[in-house]
Amino acid sequence: MRVLIADDDPVSRLMLQATLRKWGHDAVVACDGREALSILEQDLSPELAILDWMMPEIDGPEVCRRIRQNSTSSPVYIMLLTAKSQREDLIVGLGAGADDYIPKPFNHQELYARLQVGFRVADLQRKLADRVNDLEIALMRLGRAQQARKLEALGQMASGIAHEINTPTQYIGDNVRFLQDSWTELRPFLGCQAGNPDLDYLIREVPKAIDESLQGIQKVGKIVRAMRDFAHPPSENKVHTDINHAVLTTITVATNEWGYVADIETSLDPQLPRTPCFPGEIQQVLLNLLVNAAHAIADTQQKGVIRVATSTQTDSIEIRVSDSGRGIPKEYREKVFEPFFTTKDVGEGTGQGLAVAYSVIVHQHNGKIWFDSESGKGTTFYIRLPIDGIGSGKNEYEEAHFVR
Ligand SMILES: Nc1ncnc2c1ncn2[C@@H]1O[C@H](COP(=O)(O)OP(=O)(O)OP(=O)(O)O)[C@@H](O)[C@H]1O
Ligand SMILES: [Mg+2]
Repeated sequence: MRVLIADDDPVSRLMLQATLRKWGHDAVVACDGREALSILEQDLSPELAILDWMMPEIDGPEVCRRIRQNSTSSPVYIMLLTAKSQREDLIVGLGAGADDYIPKPFNHQELYARLQVGFRVADLQRKLADRVNDLEIALMRLGRAQQARKLEALGQMASGIAHEINTPTQYIGDNVRFLQDSWTELRPFLGCQAGNPDLDYLIREVPKAIDESLQGIQKVGKIVRAMRDFAHPPSENKVHTDINHAVLTTITVATNEWGYVADIETSLDPQLPRTPCFPGEIQQVLLNLLVNAAHAIADTQQKGVIRVATSTQTDSIEIRVSDSGRGIPKEYREKVFEPFFTTKDVGEGTGQGLAVAYSVIVHQHNGKIWFDSESGKGTTFYIRLPIDGIGSGKNEYEEAHFVR
């Protein structure tokens, strides 16, 4: 076991170190509380710490408090070394987060016995932390699989519906165009009846009705095509994809989400190179970002705007999704990509959207995803996908915060 001994008294520090080494432990030492904290923050931090109560600047109980406050540090079993006169303060020490104490000067047998308890607990804590970690990963996989299954079922349904709507839309369009042509041919024969108010009304209104119907049919056709493209069966390999088309398709499919709360503005790079990717997954990411943007705008109770832009960078393409929503509060910014992190009510959000986006962009495509946000002003999400489909870098965000 790796054990930390923090004591400002060199004699007692060295004695303890020698004793622990004799018992076969890897004992590291710190001369004060500050050094103890820095050792405990390291990657391979000790599993058990023996801290002297009285140390300059940061005493033993304060070290305990800071360790327990820092939720990211791995669990450590803490024993306080107390002189007899301090025993009445033990409640303070235990309240600060210590697990046990050893009276000073220490009795070898008692120290040995208490260390065994500590090692047992530290071992259980480590096993528990590993299990929790495994469980979180399993839950994340389960959530992702559920989302994928749901999407597949929705996709199949969407493509079925698209097919069903497509056929009548086509013959309605053909018939309206036939009526338009017929009206154009009929129109000269109606001229001689001028002066009849009913006929004047028809001559004015029929062409407008035909034009409106054709526009409506074009709109239905566009939605049907978008549904069909969106519901494309998942591909096994990356395909060279027109990302601008994927953006427009996703915007159309998601109209119901943003249509009531925002206007959409697009600025798509016409020179954008086709990019190797899994198109279904990229559309899924875009959909998640659009839905989040719409929700963030809906929270402001004002009609807002979502801007989607694409551009070509040196060795990647960039997609930007900006919204004029409520922004991501500072305290949540490090958490939003974590699986199951949500600020939405039960039934409204599962906290999977950005975790899936992260996994798709970073792990499946070797790309990058990050955001800028200002509370009350809005948020911009950036995605970079390598043009060569291979990519080179890690995500800075992953390096800084979220390694899984
Ligand atoms: N554009 C945004 N503006 C403001 N907050 C956002 C934005 N995008 C994400 N968030 C915040 O990040 C949280 C996590 O987002 P994520 O998409 O992962 O989950 P969700 O939207 O809550 O649920 P789900 O996407 O699974 O339905 C959201 O609950 C929200 O608080
Ligand atoms: Mg979401």
